[in-house]
Amino acid sequence: LQTLPPVQLADKYFQIFPEERDPLWQNPCHDKRHKDIWSKEKTCDRLPKFLVIGPQKTGTTALHSFLTLHPAITSNFLSPVTFEEIQFFNGPNYHHGIDWYMDFFPFPSNASTDYMFEKSANYLDSEVTPRRAAALLPRAKILALLINPADRAYSWYQHQRAHQDPAALNHTFHQVVTAGPSAPPELLGLQRRSLAPGTYSLHLERWLHHYQPSQLLIVDGAQLRSNPALVMEGVQRFLGVTPIFNYTQALTFDDSKGFWCQKLEGGRPKCLGKSKGRKYPDMAPETRSFLTEYYREHNMELLKLLNRLGQGLPTWLREELQSTS
Ligand code: A3P
Repeated sequence: LQTLPPVQLADKYFQIFPEERDPLWQNPCHDKRHKDIWSKEKTCDRLPKFLVIGPQKTGTTALHSFLTLHPAITSNFLSPVTFEEIQFFNGPNYHHGIDWYMDFFPFPSNASTDYMFEKSANYLDSEVTPRRAAALLPRAKILALLINPADRAYSWYQHQRAHQDPAALNHTFHQVVTAGPSAPPELLGLQRRSLAPGTYSLHLERWLHHYQPSQLLIVDGAQLRSNPALVMEGVQRFLGVTPIFNYTQALTFDDSKGFWCQKLEGGRPKCLGKSKGRKYPDMAPETRSFLTEYYREHNMELLKLLNRLGQGLPTWLREELQSTS
């Protein structure tokens, strides 16, 4: 019997099985063969029970901050490098492996009653994420937070202006969303990142290839903004977390911010930072009409999907479809 040194052996192996070059991490505790060779020092409990998958600009930071007020719910530690979301499943971080991912989570004091979660707002529209997430977290629950995709696109455009993106500074929102294929690449890039996450039904169907309908909750982002206590009650029931935390007492509406904020001891509000809940002019009516038309089919598909799942329709979706019928 002949063999090769490890690196050459690996080269040979991946020549024969090229599809295995891209790893697919599974939970070591779900397969006895894996568990047997998994270090005794390690635990499979340092994994999230649910994911908030985005998309960006729908209120994901508010949802995240409200969730962490719950005594039984814990989010991941912040990345020591970026201080931002982990973004494990969607990009190069995936190649750091599951120990890297698990290090973002504490050892739960009680694995059955503690609810750990992770929020990475670009998971929803990432091609690779649902398959990877389902391989590692097959029993996880998935929360998607949706607002009118036209408003989402506009919020993203304003976000890019605030970050001095030249394409956003040099073009109106109308120019961005209506740009044709011969427009400069930076304009088309901004257009894609404004519009693509809002084709919600396409993205959600991809998640439903890998997760059962009962594992997915579509949360109305407009309602989270107007009545967070009600939304948080529904979220808790969906997650099955106990005790049911009373958000009516934990939150307060701040008039100067114009948003709901955490109520601190003594009743003072603690709101999200300046980059959440920006002030900017209303969207021009012709741009709104353009986007209503642009998203019409996708919103129709979203309606069918929600009906299929037996989940209620967000008011914004109802209104959007009425205005186009
Ligand atoms: P705008 O700044 O465009 O108004 P995300 O956290 O996913 O990036 O979403 C940001 C959006 O969350 C904000 O967009 C804001 O409208 C919305 N939002 C909802 N509830 C909020 C809250 N309680 N405080 C601040 N922003 C909130």
